[in-house]
Amino acid sequence: ASLAALDETVPPPHRVADRFAAVAPSKPGHFENTPDTDPSVAANRDLVRAVLARVPSSSLGVETIDAARVTTEGKLDSRLNAAVGAAASWGALSGKARGEILHRVGEALEARRADLIEVMASETGKTADQADPEVSEAIDFAHYYGELAAGLDDVDGATHVPEKLTLVTPPWNFPVAIPAGSVLAALAAGSAVALKPAGQAERCGALLAEIIKPVLPDADLLTLVQVEEQALGRQLVGHALVDRVVLTGAYETAQLFRSFRPDLPLLAETSGKNAIIVTPSADLDLAVKDVVASAFGHAGQKCSAASLVVLVGSVARSQRFRHQLIDAVESLTVGWPSDPESQVGPVIEPAAGKLLDGLTKLGAGESWLLQPKQLDDSGRLWSPGVRDGVRRGSEYHRTEYFGPILGIMTASTLDEAIDLVNEVDYGLTSGLHTLDPADLGTWLDRIEAGNLYVNRGITGAIVRRQPFGGWKRSAVGAGTKAGGPNYLVGLSHWAPAPSTS
Ligand code: ALA
Repeated sequence: ASLAALDETVPPPHRVADRFAAVAPSKPGHFENTPDTDPSVAANRDLVRAVLARVPSSSLGVETIDAARVTTEGKLDSRLNAAVGAAASWGALSGKARGEILHRVGEALEARRADLIEVMASETGKTADQADPEVSEAIDFAHYYGELAAGLDDVDGATHVPEKLTLVTPPWNFPVAIPAGSVLAALAAGSAVALKPAGQAERCGALLAEIIKPVLPDADLLTLVQVEEQALGRQLVGHALVDRVVLTGAYETAQLFRSFRPDLPLLAETSGKNAIIVTPSADLDLAVKDVVASAFGHAGQKCSAASLVVLVGSVARSQRFRHQLIDAVESLTVGWPSDPESQVGPVIEPAAGKLLDGLTKLGAGESWLLQPKQLDDSGRLWSPGVRDGVRRGSEYHRTEYFGPILGIMTASTLDEAIDLVNEVDYGLTSGLHTLDPADLGTWLDRIEAGNLYVNRGITGAIVRRQPFGGWKRSAVGAGTKAGGPNYLVGLSHWAPAPSTS
C-alpha cells in the first residue's frame, strides 16, 4: 500500500465521532484504576530494593525463551491451529463469562507484580518507578476489558462474530502493559491470541504468558510464537489463520506488515514526534517538571515521549525556562536500574545510527544547552541532552530518535507554535502548558494529535481516563483507542442483527 493509502485509513481521533461509538456498551461499570506501589511506605521501598538486588548491575540480561521458538513452517502451523481450535468454545462463551476470567487474570498479574518489575528491569533496563506503573496499567487493562466484555452482551442491533485468531506484536519499550493490553482485549472480544514478543523482551512476554495461561479455560488460547527469520515472520503475519494483527511499533513496520498481506486487518499504534508548547501564562515550575518527566522517563524511549518543547513569546525570549530546565535535567540521576536511585536508565541497544546521531550531532543553528555524555563503555548509558535552536523543517524537528534527547524550538505566537507541531508527519501525543483559556481553545481547535494533555506530562495515559491512540502516521488501520470504551468493538467483527421480518 502507498503511504497515502495507509494514512487515509486513520480518522482524526479527537475530532470525529468514533465510528464504533454507536454499538459501544454504554452501561457505567465499577472499574477503578489500580494503585501503584506507594513509595512513601517503608516496607514498599524495602520490597523494591529486594527486587532490584536481583537485577544485573551493568548490562541487560536478554534471554531467549526456547518454548516460544518457532523455527519451521510446520511448527508455526501447528501452534496457530491449536489456538484456533481453542477459540471455538471461548468465542461461544458470553462476554460476561469471558470478563470474569479477565478479572482473575488481573488478580494473577497483581500477585506477580514484583516478578514483572524484576524482569522488565533486567531485560529492558526499566527503572522501578517506570516499571511499577506499567504493571498497574496491565492490571487495569484486565479489569477494564473484563468489564467491557460483559457489556458486549448488551449491545443492541448487532451480532458479534468473534475473530478466531489475533496476532499481537508488541514493542520492547512497554514490554508488559502493551502486550497485556492487546492480548487481553483480543481475549475479551472472544479471539484466541498468538503473541510474538519483541526480541529484546522475550522473558517479559514469556512471564506474561506464564501468568495468563493457567487462568484461561484452555491454555492453547494464548500461544507464544517467537520467529527470528524474516521469511517466517512474513508467513506468520500473512498466515491464513490470522484474522487480525495488533501491532505497536514503528510506522515502517506497519508498512512492512501491509506489504506481506495487503488486505490484512491491522490495528497499529506507531511512531511519534511529540511536543509540549509552553505559553507566556504557563506555570513554568510545573511546565519544567512535566517536560523533564515526558522527555527523559525511560530514557525517552516512549512513542509518547516529549522530544520537542516549543517556547512561545516571552518564554522564548527570556532565559528563565531554559535555566530551570538545565537545573532540573542536571539533577537527574542516570544509572542502571539495579540502583534504586536511578531515574534515567540505559537505552535498549548501544547507541548507533540515528540515535547516536541525535546524541552527538547538531543541525544548523543548534547548540547544546546540555550535551549528552556517554557514562560507561556499554554504549547504553547516556546523560540526557538538551539542544536549543532547533529550526523549522530540520532533521531534528521531524525525526523520532527514541532516546534521552530534547530539542527546544521557539515561536512568536501560539498559532506559529501549533504550525510547528502540526508540520511533523506523526500525531500521537501533544501537550500545552497555559493558564489562559483562550490559548486552550485555539490549541484544541487546531492541534493534530490523538492524545492531548493540558498542564500535565504527555506520557503515561491512564486506562479509561485517557484512552490512547494516535493520528496521522502515529496510527495505521482501524483506529480506535486502547483503554477506551470502543476498543473491543473495534477489534471484533460486528454484523447487523438478522432481520426478523
Ligand atoms: N500508553 C503509553 C503512554 O501513554 C505509551 O505513555
